[in-house]
Amino acid sequence: MSEFSTVLSETRRFPPPPAFAAKAHLTSMEDYRRLCAEADADPDAWWAARANEELHWQTPFHTVCEWEPPHAKWFLGGKTNLSYNALDRHLATLGEKAAIRFEGEPGDRRDVTYRQLHAEVCRLANALRALGVKAGDRVGIYLPLIPEAAVAMLACARIGAPHSVVFGGFSAEALRDRMNDAQAKVLITADGGWRKGQVVPLLENVRGALAHGVPTIEKVIVAQRTGAALPALRENEVAWSALVAAQPATCEPEWVDAEHPLFILYTSGSTGTPKGVLHTTGGYGVWTSLTSRWVFDLKPDDIFWCTADVGWVTGHSYVVYGPLMNAATVVLYEGAPTTPAPDRFWDLIERHRVTILYTAPTAIRAFMRLGEAHPKKHDLTSLRLLGTVGEPINPEAWMWYRETIGGGRCPVVDTWWQTETGGILISPLPGVTITKPGSATLPLPGIHPQILDKQHREVKEGAGKLFITKPWPSMLRTIWGNDARFKAGYFGEHPELYFTGDGARRDADGYFWIIGRVDDVVNVAGHRLGTAEVESALVSNLKVAEAAVVGRPDELKGTALVAFVTVKAGVPTTPELVAELCAHVTKEIGAIARPDEIRFAVALPKTRSGKIMRRLLRDVAAGTETKGDTSTLEDLSVLAALRNDDE
Ligand code: WT7
Repeated sequence: MSEFSTVLSETRRFPPPPAFAAKAHLTSMEDYRRLCAEADADPDAWWAARANEELHWQTPFHTVCEWEPPHAKWFLGGKTNLSYNALDRHLATLGEKAAIRFEGEPGDRRDVTYRQLHAEVCRLANALRALGVKAGDRVGIYLPLIPEAAVAMLACARIGAPHSVVFGGFSAEALRDRMNDAQAKVLITADGGWRKGQVVPLLENVRGALAHGVPTIEKVIVAQRTGAALPALRENEVAWSALVAAQPATCEPEWVDAEHPLFILYTSGSTGTPKGVLHTTGGYGVWTSLTSRWVFDLKPDDIFWCTADVGWVTGHSYVVYGPLMNAATVVLYEGAPTTPAPDRFWDLIERHRVTILYTAPTAIRAFMRLGEAHPKKHDLTSLRLLGTVGEPINPEAWMWYRETIGGGRCPVVDTWWQTETGGILISPLPGVTITKPGSATLPLPGIHPQILDKQHREVKEGAGKLFITKPWPSMLRTIWGNDARFKAGYFGEHPELYFTGDGARRDADGYFWIIGRVDDVVNVAGHRLGTAEVESALVSNLKVAEAAVVGRPDELKGTALVAFVTVKAGVPTTPELVAELCAHVTKEIGAIARPDEIRFAVALPKTRSGKIMRRLLRDVAAGTETKGDTSTLEDLSVLAALRNDDE
């Protein structure tokens, strides 16, 4: 028997709509197979061709890949600049095209053309240089989701200063820890940002962080977002507008080595202390540019809306770098999905004629819970492609997304990747792949995922741990300042194979089904079960909005399953419902997956990126104190409420 038992079966199949496939960049399974075969036959030649197609190289590279496990270097000898690739390349032909269509939460709007974006980036880049920021110096970015966030990232890239974006929802403490770890020299922030009708006090948080001590930060740049005027600034603070006013609108890019650090992005690990994932320039640029076109089929007239904040890797790769290198128009929306009303997303899509929507399963389930009346009020026919990312999507949510949002006409791409992978690795190609609800389907050409059992034997069909067996250009290079953690975390299982931390299953067609993090897999009475599968079964009950399943130590079974469930509006949380849900899971999966306990909650504890914090739920389920870091928790009161239910 394989290491993991998976019992959920899904038999629906959705071929690409012919009208979509006819116009797609990649149109047939033959295209896909040919690309895979070419990549495998001569990887160096194939990757070299991809790199030369995707990027302008100021100096050509001489070596495609140097792989000394666990360290990879790509496109050695090459010099490039991603700000140049995202902006300057387009100016001659597409200078007046909108790069960014911004909408603030209060409803204010601003279009930024490629020419304007280029000028703003150059001004800020010059200003950073004037402040003494040199190639290699780290710059912190703590901004709302406003055009200045993209400007700041690209200005850093322009001068070769690695940026470290900290999501605006993080606290002063979290910001301080990340800035200290990165040893940032300058921090770029704003007076505040809008979220759910309130001002997020970013500058106040920055002052709080610095008061706790971030000795390396010499200057804080403050953009104006919320007020008519900025508050009185302190000695170490300078207004963005004043700083850039005198700067020229052109700036010679720093031509950096392909392996020059582009950014550090902090992500949570199993220990609770955030780790700084380091990405470099050339390989990351090649892969985010290429995957933006392959997976999202980007065309010149697309309006692309990836709803992620730039504080997450999705916002780095598929709001800023990938789409802009493809000269796309991206939508940037500052605020909450339900402000001022539950139909804000659908209203935005209708008004901006969004053609491609890329969002998270947790958002989709939240919208399902709110009911289909909200999307039904709007004309969503501009949409032609839907994407999801971040966690396994349960088939019911996938179907709802496809039918209610996509009108049954848009392919759905369930894209698997990680902060560490830099870009999408496993995903349908929308004009090619027959999709199955809940499966991320097949690896992209050039990517080699494998499922291995405990003895590191390949599992061709069945479940196990998910590894990537060959290096790829956008893989993380190390954990900033902690190469030992990099080695242990990703190459500790096997010295030459990248371990994703995920469990996955491969079906008879070679499709990948991500089960979830391996630490979310529990062993119940000798059966290893993906908690995501049990959750999926629960959520397929029409009364359930969201579910999170964790293991609790149990004398008899080793582990007992505890399900935390939120119900749809108006559903009474009665003992009858508990019985119904247990019966439902038994029916959907089998008695082995039947929860031992179902606890109804008003909300589940989540990170701002929407990930359910199962670590906290495991503590609640086990009745123990929370030991780890809770700085990524969106709303601490959710945790308190779950605990109060205990008493
Ligand atoms: C983890 C990475 C990469 C952008 C957002 C998350 C889970 C991600 C999928 C998917 C099933 C997924 C995995 C992965 N995950 N995409 N399509 N299907 N699971 O980035 O915070 O680095 O998290 O998210 O468990 O390891 P991240």
